[in-house]
Amino acid sequence: MLSVENLKVVYRGVILALDGVSLEVGEGEAVALLGPNGAGKSSLVRAMAGLLPKFEGRVLDGKVRLFGQEATHLDPVRISQMGLTAVLEGRPLFRYLTPVENLVAAGHRLPPRELKEGMEEVFARFPRLYERRREQAGYLSGGEQQMLLLGMALLTRPRLLVVDEPSLGLAPKLVEEVMRTLDALRREKGLSLLLVEQTPGPPSASWTGCTCWSGAAWSSRGAPRRPWRTRT
Ligand SMILES: Nc1ncnc2c1ncn2[C@@H]1O[C@H](COP(=O)(O)OP(=O)(O)OP(=O)(O)O)[C@@H](O)[C@H]1O
Ligand SMILES: [Mg+2]
Repeated sequence: MLSVENLKVVYRGVILALDGVSLEVGEGEAVALLGPNGAGKSSLVRAMAGLLPKFEGRVLDGKVRLFGQEATHLDPVRISQMGLTAVLEGRPLFRYLTPVENLVAAGHRLPPRELKEGMEEVFARFPRLYERRREQAGYLSGGEQQMLLLGMALLTRPRLLVVDEPSLGLAPKLVEEVMRTLDALRREKGLSLLLVEQTPGPPSASWTGCTCWSGAAWSSRGAPRRPWRTRT
């Protein structure tokens, strides 16, 4: 459903961020993309989501194929319509708006009835979010913000969800919770997942495949063995 072939990415025409990375995510799979700071993980996410131009970057060579179609240079709206939703790093949400308003913004393409049902589903899945639904999103805890972002992503009805470092800055218990939620979404909704992280995370993170930075190049392999450490 997603295949990336020998992708090269540059910023401002000269800064080479990715030099030949390939990976595949099949239907219903959860694939981990593991690498240390600066390995190029977020650049790959931006490339897949069509967002590189917003960061003064572009794909220099290689291919992205989504759901059987060439998607290398498509714009973000088209890619989202095809079924890929990316949750970017740094918890990008509207901090001065409430969770309800953030969810409405994320689901603005849905007919009102579907939006209402979708929001009810999100609140049923994340009861803590429901309790805090009328507060400013910027005042939610890191874990609650992550849940809100996942809820927003669900309202875009993705077939493939790409999440960039969801565990960043979270306590181990919350990381467990986020991983369990993602796994439940995969099983219950038949979503495919590409999870970007620095390490494989807790046992609740069950990967079916892995692409990791091995010090000089990206390599693909089966599920990572534990314990596993990032090698630089
Ligand atoms: N907008 C940009 N303009 C110029 N260079 C950039 C830009 N974004 C990223 N880079 C460079 O591209 C390389 C890869 O960065 P990227 O953010 O993709 O790494 P990362 O693996 O996501 O790191 P982190 O774990 O810190 O999030 C780095 O050398 C970085 O400095
Ligand atoms: Mg990053």
